[in-house]
Amino acid sequence: MKFSDLTRTKHVDDVIHQNDEDPEEGETHLKQNLSARDLIGFGIGIVIGTGIFTLTGLQAKENAGPAVVISFLIAGFVSLLAALCYAELAAAVPTAGSSYTYAYTTIGEIFAWIIAWDLILEFALGAAVVARGWSGYVAGVFDLPQKWFGEEGSVINIGAIAITLVLGWVAMRGIRESKWVTNGLVVIKVVVCLFVIAVGAFYVKGENLNPFIPPAKPGDSDSGSLTAPLWQFVTGIEPSTFGIAGVFVAAAVVFFAYSGFEAVANLGEETKKPARDMPMGLLGTLGICTLLYVGVCLVLTGMVAYQDLSEGDAVADVFDQVGLNWAGILVGIAAVAGLTSVILVDLVAMGRIGFAIARDGLLPPIFSRIHPTWGTPVLMTGLTVAAVATLGGLVPISVLAEMVSIGTLFAFVVVSVAVAVLRRTSPDMKRPFRTPLVPLVPIASVVCCLGLMASLAVETWLRFLVWLALGLLVYAFYGYRHSKVGKRVEATEEVA
Ligand code: ALA
Repeated sequence: MKFSDLTRTKHVDDVIHQNDEDPEEGETHLKQNLSARDLIGFGIGIVIGTGIFTLTGLQAKENAGPAVVISFLIAGFVSLLAALCYAELAAAVPTAGSSYTYAYTTIGEIFAWIIAWDLILEFALGAAVVARGWSGYVAGVFDLPQKWFGEEGSVINIGAIAITLVLGWVAMRGIRESKWVTNGLVVIKVVVCLFVIAVGAFYVKGENLNPFIPPAKPGDSDSGSLTAPLWQFVTGIEPSTFGIAGVFVAAAVVFFAYSGFEAVANLGEETKKPARDMPMGLLGTLGICTLLYVGVCLVLTGMVAYQDLSEGDAVADVFDQVGLNWAGILVGIAAVAGLTSVILVDLVAMGRIGFAIARDGLLPPIFSRIHPTWGTPVLMTGLTVAAVATLGGLVPISVLAEMVSIGTLFAFVVVSVAVAVLRRTSPDMKRPFRTPLVPLVPIASVVCCLGLMASLAVETWLRFLVWLALGLLVYAFYGYRHSKVGKRVEATEEVA
């Protein structure tokens, strides 16, 4: 294995040409008809989900108390830094695609592979998190037992398994939501957040928000325990919950609530004026989501004592607790509808990611095989559904969300480093959107992402490292040898 092979890159022209064969892409050149407003609508549609509807309650109860709102602000700030870096790479590669494609055309194959491996984690586990969140709200609306549909005392989550199988079938059949339904669900999600804020505000009691940051108290785990945040484990500090450290732990977990915003950056090619609309789209999405998140957090923790928040359907349950059952049911139904679309988008995205990787030869070709009548990468989607149903059925929501957070944060570290490095190595690269204040913003992004990662549990790090190691093994034994770019490079060298 030669080091230069690891950083071999894909030619931008190949990427554009590749879209000719993309069965789901249709036309080769996408129309440039999206405005900043469209980008924001799209962004809100995929960003708002279980993060705000479920993790808020869990993290307020377990780590941050009412200060969970500060956790959301911290996570939003880190997302903003990452978004500014992400947008430069996304706009520089003139084709639709994910961070995997950008990395492949700029920093090289091994980094692209690591990002792809991370994306699998983000989308598959993300779908499992949202499926469990969905189940918690269904349980609230229909009064179903937490044991089978929620988090408290959960043995196996039947609701998460059922919704994954149903939507998996939909994704395999290639049925997409119509634009009308998608837009409708975006409106429902925003309206439900505004409703919670406007109605809930009348039920906020000052005493529930006091103390705002509950004092730190010893955690359940011993020092040196694998459930302790990495930085406490490394420094030997007694593991604690709540206090400032708890706010950061919660920030790292609720980072999940912002995951998915990078998909906005993927629409660079379809945007009318990327240099202006892309930052507006990204900042608008993050800004609006942050405002809604802050409002919902304040109202939620103000309506009931944080210790009494539900672990399954907090945003609906607070209304039941103050006697507004009708509002609880309304919010529950809206949350179920909104979360359904997030799961579907994740499952469809996974199929496409697997398809793209296999098409490049980094995974066996069977994964890029398209079903003759359904027109979807059916094997990849089927495997994803099996994995999501199993994990969503058996693994607690916080464990899954922490894995998504660490994977996404790591991918952002790679992207931020790439932006700064490429400014030096490829100064002439065409950059329709330029990250401001390079290298300051990329450095701040790396430091903040690593900081949040350090607040995640040691066991999350271990699981992530095992996942990465597995990925590198797959690359070493399969991708490295079968890479189409690698074969092209070899052929060129032979001719020379
Ligand atoms: N950010 C999305 C959510 O919170 C994935 O559900």
